[in-house]
Amino acid sequence: MSKETKEITELILKAKAKALKETSSEAEPELTRPIKWPTDCIVGPGLEGAIACETKIGYVNGSKGWLIYRGYNIFDLCAYSTFEEVSYLLLHGYLPNEKQLEGFKKKMLLFSHIPNTKRLLMGFPIENMKPMAALRMGTNLMRQEFTDVDKYGYLSNIANIISADEDSIPMETEPMGEEHAIYEFKRKQLENKIKDDLKHAIGFDSCYHLLAGVPSLTGVVARIRDGHLPLEPKSELSYAGNLIYMITGREPTSVEERVMDIALILHADHGMNASTFASMVVASTLADLYLSVGAGIAALNGPLHGGANEKVIEVLKDIGSVNNVKPWFDKVRAKKGKIMGFGHRVYKAYDPRARVLGPLAKYLSKGNPEAKKLFATANALEKEVVSTLGKEKRIFPNVDFYSGIVYSSMGIAPDLFTPIFAVSRVAGWTARVQEYLRNNRIFRPRAMYVGPFDKEYVPVKQRRAAKKS
Ligand code: CMC
Repeated sequence: MSKETKEITELILKAKAKALKETSSEAEPELTRPIKWPTDCIVGPGLEGAIACETKIGYVNGSKGWLIYRGYNIFDLCAYSTFEEVSYLLLHGYLPNEKQLEGFKKKMLLFSHIPNTKRLLMGFPIENMKPMAALRMGTNLMRQEFTDVDKYGYLSNIANIISADEDSIPMETEPMGEEHAIYEFKRKQLENKIKDDLKHAIGFDSCYHLLAGVPSLTGVVARIRDGHLPLEPKSELSYAGNLIYMITGREPTSVEERVMDIALILHADHGMNASTFASMVVASTLADLYLSVGAGIAALNGPLHGGANEKVIEVLKDIGSVNNVKPWFDKVRAKKGKIMGFGHRVYKAYDPRARVLGPLAKYLSKGNPEAKKLFATANALEKEVVSTLGKEKRIFPNVDFYSGIVYSSMGIAPDLFTPIFAVSRVAGWTARVQEYLRNNRIFRPRAMYVGPFDKEYVPVKQRRAAKKS
């Protein structure tokens, strides 16, 4: 272990010690017991307080600032584990042994190759698209490339592969004669390669496939829009290392690789957040995993959720320097504005993920003057917010506040911050979907109707312009 990676572990253990000192060690009995349906709970707007299911995957204690994955606290996982291990843990419920981990890594490397999806993405004007939109489209293309769920789409896709191989002339009908033999051969070859559960897009191989494929998609988007060809992952790099490599085109330093690994661990799962719930709702209809993950990506994109990390950097740049922090904050406060990267539906204590990412942002930004300035501004803003809104409303920095500085220090563009969040959260989305499907019941809450009942229908020609209701 290098001196730097040791220092990083020490930073995490220091954050853990601070968190333990500030919180007690009791769970919330009302949120950590088996449910007897129907259950009572007090529900607020935005389903606040609603209990949707039982889970063994993860626990967030908002009043104490805990985050637990499958019984392990997040600080220990960050200090000692890797994202590969953590994804396996979330999906299967236990940490893999050496052999299981090796097998998992091999499969992930295999599944990270998505040739036809890449080729198709290269045909879209993705330089004009938000990377999250391209990512969402990419998961649909992966579904078409590797699964058998839409038989018709599947076959026309095979034709696509062959036509692309043969001078890229699109074929509108199935090929004839010798071409047909090649066509059949390639189709069989591809079919044999695909495992049964990948074809049906619901089993663990589909989870692995998405987990391995979404970073490749992120790399494709990052490279193509900068005018470069996409890169294949390297077998000697870790999952985190390959993510940086495929985005930036350069092999990361060991520090960058370690810090990205920690960032991925921190974002992997977080209770019934909006994107996880979105992917579970879609899965509960028995739609497949690719569509569920697509729904997760769509929900994560919004600035109130994963999109906040990109907005934070915009705000910090807008503030400009430490000296401008107080006047900027006073103005926003006077207007009762929301500050990106602060506040949380569940955490009414310091978010443990921000406890780790803050020191890591400081550590990484040391060597990068622009990131250093961003960190200084962020740190001053945190002090202002915590000393005022922290006391009044229990508002603290959340996971999105410092993550952008970490990624900026690695030379990653702001609009790729949310895709990196998505790359990691695929682990939580797929794990929770798999768990929920074991006792599936379609999600179907109700709304309280507060409209009128006795309106008389008036034919269109006699209607006057309606008043806004
Ligand atoms: N800045 C200033 N005031 C805030 C903030 C904020 N960021 N967040 C909440 N408040 C205030 C809010 O104005 C309200 O005050 P009052 O009671 O006087 O009306 C009170 O705190 C409760 O806020 P809320 O909007 O009812 O809280 P919520 O649970 O509905 O929303 C949230 C949670 C995360 C959407 C919200 O805190 C927010 O908009 N934060 C900024 C966006 C952000 O950073 N999102 C990332 C969330 S964490 C990672 C992730 O999920 O992706």
